[in-house]
This record gives sequence, structure tokens and C-alpha cells, in this order.
Amino acid sequence: MTTTQEIFPPCDLVIYGGLGDLSRRKLIISLYRLEKGNFLEPDTRIIAVDRLEEDSASFIKIAYKSLQDFLGEPLDEAIWKKYSARLSYQKMDLTQPEEYKIFNQLTDSSKRVMVNYFAVAPFLFQHICKGLKHSGVLTDQSRMVMEKPIGHDLESSKEINDTVASVFNDDQVFRIDHYLGKETVLNLLALRFANSIFTTNWDHNTIDSVQITVAEEVGIEGRWEYFDQTGQLRDMVQNHLLQILTFVAMEPPVNLEAQSIHSEKIKVLDALRPITAENVHEKTVRGQYTDGFIKGKEVPGYLNEEGANTSSTTESFVALRVDIDNWRWAGVPFYLRTGKCLMHKRTEIVINFKQLPHNIFQESYRELPANKLIIHLQPNEGIEIQMLNKIPGIDENIKLQRTKLDLSFSETFKNSKLFGGYEKLVLEAMRGNPTLFISRAEIEQAWTWIDSISEAWEKSNEETKGYPAGTWGPVASVALLARDGRAWEE
Ligand code: BG6
Repeated sequence: MTTTQEIFPPCDLVIYGGLGDLSRRKLIISLYRLEKGNFLEPDTRIIAVDRLEEDSASFIKIAYKSLQDFLGEPLDEAIWKKYSARLSYQKMDLTQPEEYKIFNQLTDSSKRVMVNYFAVAPFLFQHICKGLKHSGVLTDQSRMVMEKPIGHDLESSKEINDTVASVFNDDQVFRIDHYLGKETVLNLLALRFANSIFTTNWDHNTIDSVQITVAEEVGIEGRWEYFDQTGQLRDMVQNHLLQILTFVAMEPPVNLEAQSIHSEKIKVLDALRPITAENVHEKTVRGQYTDGFIKGKEVPGYLNEEGANTSSTTESFVALRVDIDNWRWAGVPFYLRTGKCLMHKRTEIVINFKQLPHNIFQESYRELPANKLIIHLQPNEGIEIQMLNKIPGIDENIKLQRTKLDLSFSETFKNSKLFGGYEKLVLEAMRGNPTLFISRAEIEQAWTWIDSISEAWEKSNEETKGYPAGTWGPVASVALLARDGRAWEE
């Protein structure tokens, strides 16, 4: 049993946008799972705030329905009883500062820490900040949690951060990237810094190149308008892919404290070589899916989705060659690709080691295949090392075969429950531990680099190339690596 009482005080978790998609699909579900794991402090309360005419009783019914729809396992009625007793609802117009006074009755800072989860569109952030300030309910202990989109570019992200900073100190702000809650992303820290074989073989001397693929099978799913203004570069690369990249590329942090990890990550982001209008064509590929088939099912192209503007050139696929200008990674390209409506859902990192300088096994291979470390982040979490072994036998010559050392998380850690990213992050926000959250400096540095790409695309009128849904993206993405004599891991 977890003794939550000793670890952190109870919270008044206020979810702004309590009836919205994020709340119903993720937060309500994650909090239930935390309840089930006995991670919620007995006195913690969850207050959903939204503008619709509901009350606590009807909200509890909505929460029950969300669990039925999205939990993906049978609901445990005893847990639900305990959980639902924590839930309440407050109808509010978030744009009216006066209305925030209600929190003086709904929350109690002498008993619980107020955690404000902004699960609303960013234009409401300034209203919530103003309202909370006006209400006088905040203390130094209060926190706020927000997640992407934290801006659309550097300037708008600064605006959001400034708005929040007018009410909360930076150590009260928790910026979520849900990939940092994923077990396998966190395991990168363990893999790299708890295993000497990887602490010593992790630089330009031994590594040839790195690939990071975040492939999605899903398309736009009813959010065409939002996505069309965003595109895959801002929706996925600015946050999730760059976060994974920083974990792969960073120097060893002094310890696991937030400050140490953040400062190593920011150094990597600082060292990303800007992409310019002159080289954007060789270093990037933009794609947009056309009609196709995924697992035998017909899928409409991006421009044929419901609500589509048929002249849109927004990208649903991006592939990039990224160079990190520092001592460790000089000359090692990082290839990133991510897209919607691809063949399978697959998130993985492939570390391609260098080829050996000389081959004494010419009988088996004219060129010895280099070792690979493949880290499967999702689904089928695990780690695989591809290596060569001798085929058993008493022939005269030693014959080699490619083999795998394969570690599947679900088999190795059969008795440990794998929690999802949101459970971990919501819990850490309630605990007040900022390690797994992103600092303002990181977000702004990431935007600076992403803006260089968007601007280069715009300046050079970079074309969006079509790819049929259900494939691995435009042919140009194969060419991106082929030009360097490499290929994507398939
Ligand atoms: C979100 C993006 O941040 O991540 C979505 O906005 C994307 O477009 C999703 O589908 C992918 O998350 P996951 O956890 O399913 O890989």
C-alpha cells in the first residue's frame, strides 16, 4: 500500500475545462487509475469547472460515462464509490473575474494545496490568471498545470508564459508534455546513466546516426480546424520529438533534480543547428496524406476529411535531418520523422552504431552489418539489440548470423503495472515535483528552432508532398536518408 500521506499534502485539484475533451478522455480516467492504485491522498478533492449548466450530481454521471467509454477495463464499483466522493462541479464563466471568489468557499488552503489545471484553450489563460488573482485565493503553495499548445511560435509562447508569470512564480508552474510521463521515455535515463555499456558508447566515436520515429495510425479525428492551423511540426516535433531527442542526446545530469535535468536538456536544444531557407530542401520533408487504406479500411485523404479546406497545404507528416553542434554529436545526424495516417502506430528510437573498421568474416558478410540498439517506446515497449553471432556448427569456416537480444517490458516486469503518461504527470504535479515538466527556457528554445523551420518553409515555398494513408510517408522521406547513404529502419 502506498502511504501517500507522508509524501505530499492533499490537494484541491481544480480542472478548468472539466467537461472538455482532455478532461473526459484523460484526466478523469487517470485520476480514477490513481485512486485504484491508492495514490490519491484521502482528503484530496477534484473540482471540475466549466461554463455549462451542470451540477455535481450530473457531473458525476458524466465522469462515470467517460470511464465507461475510455477506461478500457471494467470499472471497479468500490473504487468508483471512493473516487466519485471526491468529485464536484462548479459552473463558471471564466471570463468574469468576480466569479472566481467562489473558490474561497470551494477550496481551503489551510488544509489542501490548490492545483489549477488549465485544460482550456490558451486564450482563456489570461482570464483565469486575472480571476484567480482577483479572488485572493492563491498562496505560495498554489500551482498551475498547463500543456500544449503553449503558443504557436516563440512570440505567442512568450505571451502565454508572461501571462502565467504575472500570477504564478516559475516554481509553481508545471508545463506538461505527456511523453515525459511515458515509462519508456523515462527509462532512457536509466538505460543511459545506469548502464556502463551505454554511458561509454554514446557519442560520435561509436554512433553513426540516430533515428526517432513517432508514427501514428490515427488521422485528424474531428479536429481538422485546430490541426490545420497547427500542422505536424508544431503539434508533434516542437514538443514530443524534441523532448525524446534531448533525452537521447543530453550530457549526464548531476542528479535527478529538475534543475540538473532541465539544464542539460536546454544545452541540447541550444546546440540544434538552425535550418535555413538555403538548406531546408535537403534537410526537411513535409507531407500530407491522400486517400488510402489502413489495415484494409479505406481512409479519406487530409483534404477529403470532414470540414476540410481543400486548398490547405498544412503538413500531416514531417521528416528532418537534425544536426547537433556540440562535441559529443559532431557529425552524427539525428533523423526525425512523424506523421498521421501512417502504416502503424509506432514510436521508436534507433541508435545505429558505426561499422567496424575491418572485416575478418568475409565468408558470411562482405560488409558486416553494424550493431543497432532499438528502443521501442510504444506499443510493445521494450529494448532490442541487433548483433552478430556465430551459427552453431562444425564447418570449417565461422558463419555469422544477425540475431537479437530482445527485452520486452511486459514480460520482464510482469508484476509491475505500467501506468500511462497522464497518471504519472498528474500525480507529480500534485506532489509538487517539477522534474518531469518542461521549463520555460526549454519551450522557448524549442520554439526558436521550430520557427527557423517554419520560416524557411515559408520563404522557400516548400511543397507539401502527398503520401497515401497507410504508407510510411512521402517518397522524399526515403530520399532524405538515401542522400546520406542511409535508410529508415522498417
Ligand atoms: C498529442 C497530439 O500531443 O499527441 C496529437 O496533439 C497526437 O495530435 C498525440 O495524436 C499522440 O500521443 P500518443 O500518446 O498517442 O503517442
